[in-house]
Amino acid sequence: MAAPKLIQILILTLFYYSSPSLASQQPTYNVVSFGAKPDGRSDTTKAFLSAWGAACATTAPATIYVPPGRYVLGNAYFTGKSCKNTAITIRIDGTLVAPSDYNALGRSGSWLEFERVAGVSIYGGTLDGRGAKLWSCKNSNSGRSCPKGATSLAFYNSNNIIINGLTSLNSQMFHILVDGCQNAKLMNMRISAPGNSPNTDGIHVQQSTGVTIMNSHIGTGDDCVSIGPGASNLWIENLSCGPGHGISIGSLGWDMQEAGVQNVTVKTATFTGTENGVRMKTWARPSNGVKISYVTYQDIHGTSATQVAVNFDCSKAYPCSGITLDEVNLTYGDKPATASCANAGGTADGVVEPTSCL
Ligand SMILES: *[C@@H]1O[C@H](CO)[C@@H](O)[C@H](O)[C@H]1NC(C)=O
Ligand SMILES: *[C@@H]1O[C@H](CO)[C@@H](O)[C@H](O)[C@H]1NC(C)=O
Ligand SMILES: *[C@@H]1O[C@H](CO)[C@@H](O)[C@H](O)[C@H]1NC(C)=O
Repeated sequence: MAAPKLIQILILTLFYYSSPSLASQQPTYNVVSFGAKPDGRSDTTKAFLSAWGAACATTAPATIYVPPGRYVLGNAYFTGKSCKNTAITIRIDGTLVAPSDYNALGRSGSWLEFERVAGVSIYGGTLDGRGAKLWSCKNSNSGRSCPKGATSLAFYNSNNIIINGLTSLNSQMFHILVDGCQNAKLMNMRISAPGNSPNTDGIHVQQSTGVTIMNSHIGTGDDCVSIGPGASNLWIENLSCGPGHGISIGSLGWDMQEAGVQNVTVKTATFTGTENGVRMKTWARPSNGVKISYVTYQDIHGTSATQVAVNFDCSKAYPCSGITLDEVNLTYGDKPATASCANAGGTADGVVEPTSCL
């Protein structure tokens, strides 16, 4: 047994040293050399933050490398505040694991949080939010005595972000949050939690512009993608969704001073047994103005687990306008689905099933 293992290690070692991105002149900060133990037990938060600090201290493009293994992290706050670097690549071959006790993440709302960073790219990696215990707390006492839980990966007030090839499993709350950001590309992701896990939105985007979500599979207990106030120029393409609640815009208009949602394209999305297909909602709170405008759904297919597969529920005070449906075919199991519109305006092209209500 020992010999094959030795050969394996040898091959892996050779692979790492010959790997072009690591052999390049780019400085690489390996979290293990900052003290992280990939044993699935030791807390490695400090080591990750030290590697981040080291990469931030330089201005040349830098790589933070996470070798294979399981790394337990508590709240990890990666701030751009005193970061001089605007080209940090985080390459992850390992799994980042949340603490087994959800209370350990406290009330901070996020587990791995990036704030005011620029030019951060995350390639590969698996995040395991270990949400199961929190979900069962929420599902058993109507959630009264349970903490809200933490978003697995949050980006606040950041720009030029890339997330490519990330797997996110079993988040306590949202898997990924993009809030107050400009230019973010999220692609080739796999996001997964059981259909009955509460509040586990796949990706939530708000107060952000220029966000692209592509080539990903999301199966979770809440919205696959949820779009909140102040999202604009959002592009979603080639997404498969299910289980989950579909793609939702809103609820908007709850706060008096709330930015609307503008220019959203959803192109080529497949729903498999999602609770809804596509959905928009604005609240009927007293104010003026259009809250949701210029939303295009093109090449949308699949099945909804409820009959209303297309639901645009907009208020008189906050109507939805400029909606385009083009090649949409959603069924309710193997039966026809229905579409429901209130105060929603726009056009339909090509095959649209259920028949457009715009
Ligand atoms: C769509 O995304 C899936 C991953 O979910 C990928 O395998 C496939 O190649 C993508 N299709 C295109 C046309 O890019
Ligand atoms: C809408 O958003 C897309 C990116 O998703 C962008 O390319 C396009 O220019 C935007 N259109 C307008 C009118 O802002
Ligand atoms: C819509 O999809 C269903 C199920 O895939 C299919 O049977 C039906 O023919 C499609 N309808 C149209 C109008 O393409």
